[in-house]
Amino acid sequence: MKWNKKYALGIAVIDAQHKQLFHINDELEAGLQTGIRPEELDAMLTRLGKYAVRHFTLEEKHMAATEYPGLVEQQEAHRSFTARFAEIRDDFTKNGMTGTIINTLQGELTDWIREHVTIMDQQFGKYYNEQQ
Ligand SMILES: [Fe+2]
Repeated sequence: MKWNKKYALGIAVIDAQHKQLFHINDELEAGLQTGIRPEELDAMLTRLGKYAVRHFTLEEKHMAATEYPGLVEQQEAHRSFTARFAEIRDDFTKNGMTGTIINTLQGELTDWIREHVTIMDQQFGKYYNEQQ
C-alpha cells in the first residue's frame, strides 16, 4: 500500500516518518513475496524495529506536548506492538524463516503499522489541527 497525502497529520516530522514506515513496510512485503535470504530478513526487521521505536518516541512526545487526551491509549498501542514485534523476532531467531513467520509478517505485522497510521494516528492529527 502506497503512502497517500491524505494520511498526513500536518506535522512534518511525523508525516515524514510515517512515509518512511510505509516504505519499510512495502520493502518487507516485496521481499517476502519475491523471496529473501534469512540474513536480509533479519536486517530488515532490525531496521523496522529501530525505526518504529524511534518513531513512537517522537510521536508520544508531540502528543504529550499538546496534551492529547488519547496519549495513554497510543502508548499502550505502541507498547503492545513493540512486545509483539519482539515475540515475532524471537520466533524467527529460534525457528528461522518458517511459513508461519512469513505469514505473520506479511499479515499481522505490516497490517498493524498501516492501520495504526491510517486510523489511530489520524485521530491525533485531527486533534492537533483543531488546537492550531
Ligand atoms: Fe501512533
